[in-house]
Amino acid sequence: MSRDLLELKSLSVQEIQAILSQAQAFADGEKCTDFTGRIAVNMFFEPSTRTQYSFNVAEENLGLRVISFNPAGSSLQKDESFYDTVKTFDSFGVDVIVIRHSENEYYKQLLGHISAPLLNGGDGTGNHPTQSLLDLLTIKQEFGSFEGLRAAIIGDIRHSRVAHTNFEVMQRLGMEVCTSGPEEYREEGMNYKPFSEALRESDIIMLLRVQHERHASAMQLSKEEYHRLYGLSADKLELMKPKAIIMHPAPFNRGVEIAEDVVECDRSRIFKQMKNGVFVRMAVIKRALGDL
Ligand code: NCD
Repeated sequence: MSRDLLELKSLSVQEIQAILSQAQAFADGEKCTDFTGRIAVNMFFEPSTRTQYSFNVAEENLGLRVISFNPAGSSLQKDESFYDTVKTFDSFGVDVIVIRHSENEYYKQLLGHISAPLLNGGDGTGNHPTQSLLDLLTIKQEFGSFEGLRAAIIGDIRHSRVAHTNFEVMQRLGMEVCTSGPEEYREEGMNYKPFSEALRESDIIMLLRVQHERHASAMQLSKEEYHRLYGLSADKLELMKPKAIIMHPAPFNRGVEIAEDVVECDRSRIFKQMKNGVFVRMAVIKRALGDL
């Protein structure tokens, strides 16, 4: 079994369930310091708060020493390549490498050329395996299982690695998934539904940020129009099923895809997702270091 975690689609349902069980054990208080003294390097070539720093907390919880690579202060500024930068840390003998990069499947150029296990913290619009795992853990805690649940992913579907990763894995776990949002960000083959229908039918409403940094041209809608048409405001909560929950990978833009007073409402699991991010990342590091 590969110790890398690059794409969830290459993991079986059993492997995914094993990671979730280990993450839940950590959430329930299991301690593990077997990896004391090992070294992790977090290499974020794109901005990140949650993914980067929850990896950091997870690594420290497991006893690892952590290097936070800073691209702006590195020899990338002297035209050193991405490949050579990663090879450098691998040569230092680090035990696990976490990478986020704007290029889809950036990891393909590294496979077979580095010896440390590689954990993907997000590649372009492609994959975000640890985000999906923490979303799944949050859903499992809420509903007990996945089979038959309905999820709606709403927002900038086309540019979202979170949407792409969740759409695939959730269906494989027996969930029914639809997408909704502005026409300019829709993607074919992703079961589009009008916003109000998606809100009415779903057990999980997953909102996404508009990924402006990936757009060639500005959004056609103003932020106010976006909020009116596709934003989750307090009045629209009434359309939701009684036990339906709200999720968002964050960062969220209050007043655009989600109203100020909805972020921390009873139905919101947004900060629970962040908390679960630490446990899921502890589990995938444990797996990478050969102990799951
Ligand atoms: C997401 C990402 O980077 O893909 N954030 C995250 O990791 N929690 C979503 C986003 O940036 O909108």
